[in-house]
Amino acid sequence: MRHLFSLLLLCLASLLAVSAQQCYMADSRVAVFYPAAYDAAAHQPSPIFERELCPTAAVAADWSLRPVFSQDGAQSVATVHVGEGVDYYGEGEVNGTLRRGGTTVTLWNTDNPNYCEEDSTRLYQSHPWLMGVRRDGTAFGLIADCTWRMTIHADADVTFRSDGPAFRVVVIEAESPQALMQQFTDLVGHAPLPPMWALGYQQCRFSYHPDTQVMDIADQLRRHRIPCDVIWMDIHYMDGFRIFTFSPEEFPHPRRVTDYLHARHFKSVCMIDPGIKVDSTFWLDREGTAADYWVQDSRHQPYVGNVWPGPCHFPDFTRPEVRRWWSGLYPALMAEGIDGVWNDMNEPAIGSSATKTMPLDAHHRGGEGLAAGPHLRYHNVYAHYMVKASRDGLLLSHPDRRPFVLSRAGFLGSHRYAAMWTGDNKSSYHHLRLSIPMSLNIGLSGQPFNGADIGGFNTSTTAELLADWTAVGAFYPFARNHCDQGGVRQEPWAFDRATLDACRTAINRRYRLLPYIYTAFEEATRTGMPVMRPVFMADVHDLALRGEEQAFLVGGDLAVVPRWAEKVHLPALWQRLTLEEQPDKYQATLYQRPGSVVPLANLAQNVEELATDSLTLLVCLDADGRATGRLYEDARDGFGYREGQYTVYTFTAQRADDGTIAVSMRHTDGTLPPRRHTLRLGLVSAGRVKYTPWREGEAVQWRF
Ligand code: GLC
Repeated sequence: MRHLFSLLLLCLASLLAVSAQQCYMADSRVAVFYPAAYDAAAHQPSPIFERELCPTAAVAADWSLRPVFSQDGAQSVATVHVGEGVDYYGEGEVNGTLRRGGTTVTLWNTDNPNYCEEDSTRLYQSHPWLMGVRRDGTAFGLIADCTWRMTIHADADVTFRSDGPAFRVVVIEAESPQALMQQFTDLVGHAPLPPMWALGYQQCRFSYHPDTQVMDIADQLRRHRIPCDVIWMDIHYMDGFRIFTFSPEEFPHPRRVTDYLHARHFKSVCMIDPGIKVDSTFWLDREGTAADYWVQDSRHQPYVGNVWPGPCHFPDFTRPEVRRWWSGLYPALMAEGIDGVWNDMNEPAIGSSATKTMPLDAHHRGGEGLAAGPHLRYHNVYAHYMVKASRDGLLLSHPDRRPFVLSRAGFLGSHRYAAMWTGDNKSSYHHLRLSIPMSLNIGLSGQPFNGADIGGFNTSTTAELLADWTAVGAFYPFARNHCDQGGVRQEPWAFDRATLDACRTAINRRYRLLPYIYTAFEEATRTGMPVMRPVFMADVHDLALRGEEQAFLVGGDLAVVPRWAEKVHLPALWQRLTLEEQPDKYQATLYQRPGSVVPLANLAQNVEELATDSLTLLVCLDADGRATGRLYEDARDGFGYREGQYTVYTFTAQRADDGTIAVSMRHTDGTLPPRRHTLRLGLVSAGRVKYTPWREGEAVQWRF
């Protein structure tokens, strides 16, 4: 009886909550729903949105998707009744299928090697965002504006269930998934344009040390003609894993190493973890302790947990003064010639804790409108505020360079500050396959700049797997080969000649496509369309494409089909594309969209050497004999592009009745003067490419 009574009370409470909710229209297609018990101080300022939401009017009476808010014991719940027939995507870094229907994920950033903890329902990053695509191609998005620990269940009813106080829900309606990405990223912010070197191939291992090994890897890459732009330094470059230091024995003259790399057109990226070794002789620990910058335990004493250096203190990044201090640490590091920064273990991962992280009641002090609060609230955004400060630190070091920060953990919105990789995957075919839907969903969650460790991180890769992984990974937006210290060597030359050749061919493909990939990144920064896209984006009305998760698109005009993919669904009439290379059994098959022109560069060993004044334009005509394309160019680094210092070329091709094809290349945007190009055309048709030299304005006759 008592049970029944409390059940009735619960129903009444949730009914009241529903009727008392306030709803506002932030613009015509975005609605914000507030639960009755909404306490702004428990959620705002929100890290998710670039600007605080400004509701303007009441939601129209016929608005269909309306969350129902309720309390279930200590949990706050928002349920949106969606109904059947919707394909779900998004949710950020998730394990499993591309389509998210029927799944539950936990939003609690977790150091999850091999993705095997907790049924793999939680990984390193959290994105309270779900995208729905209806049968008719219209789309909607749901954002639960809540950093507290939460689960999302996606089904006919979508349920957000949080361990924190009642939270608001943003609903976006759009005519297409493309329009949804635009509206969504207008709210959560657009990823910044990376320096072009960060789009090159990158070589890493835990760890290259001492310094001579870093230089040797650089030499080998050049000797083996593996195009590469970045060599990474994992934790062993430090003095006893103390961040912002160099090992006096192993890296006594860091500038000598970075000069060596720069002279060979490599950039360097080094690791900075959040944990600071508890060590009264360590200047950084002394500084932070004196200023009282650490996250506190429940008794308001500095919290201590173990990471690589042993017991560590952790900067409280919710505090603006701590972020400023952290940013200020970078200029001295960057002055050693470091070009980019890798923030890891920032879930935060704590080895000495049974929960693998800080206790839920660890204390963060906040500031600038952010209330003090428990770890339960701030855990998921620890990395978010850390990478924000790191990015600022890189800007402080080099105000005229685009910062490159890579992060393992993050939250919805962290794409504004850092690129991300998908943590400690495993050298297995299963993980290679998994990396595709994972990257696709991350891209659909606002983060275009992401990728998995090529070759796999944990356990040992094999020659076959490395070749297969590089063949696919060369098309990840972020393309880095990285592996654990225990496994075999994993550089492209670590096995046999065939593996080396296959890796080289795959990476060569990336470099030839870099002008196109860079153009896709620039597009992502404006439109929110990911660089690596699900195939269904090519034709949202072809329902057979909705679940395709082996093949994927790069930009709007190229499809990549791994050689091991089976029963792939591709959009109708896309044309098989061969590049000029030695075929081998590992390479992915490429397809080009009919109606497109794709620019190709000549092969280069790095971005500094990549010349785009010689271009090949791959022309793939549609059924009407037409094609168009776009190429974006700028200084490849720096911020001049924000003042219009870029060039956009628009290509068009049109076949006339007499069979001749008129091709044009016009300078259509940007204040940088157009360059003179040495050009070649390649007509893509029936699985072949026929090349011909071309001067702008010339009509060409192609015969197969
Ligand atoms: C973590 C990272 C991995 C790195 C290692 C050592 O496991 O995920 O990429 O190599 O720490 O720093």
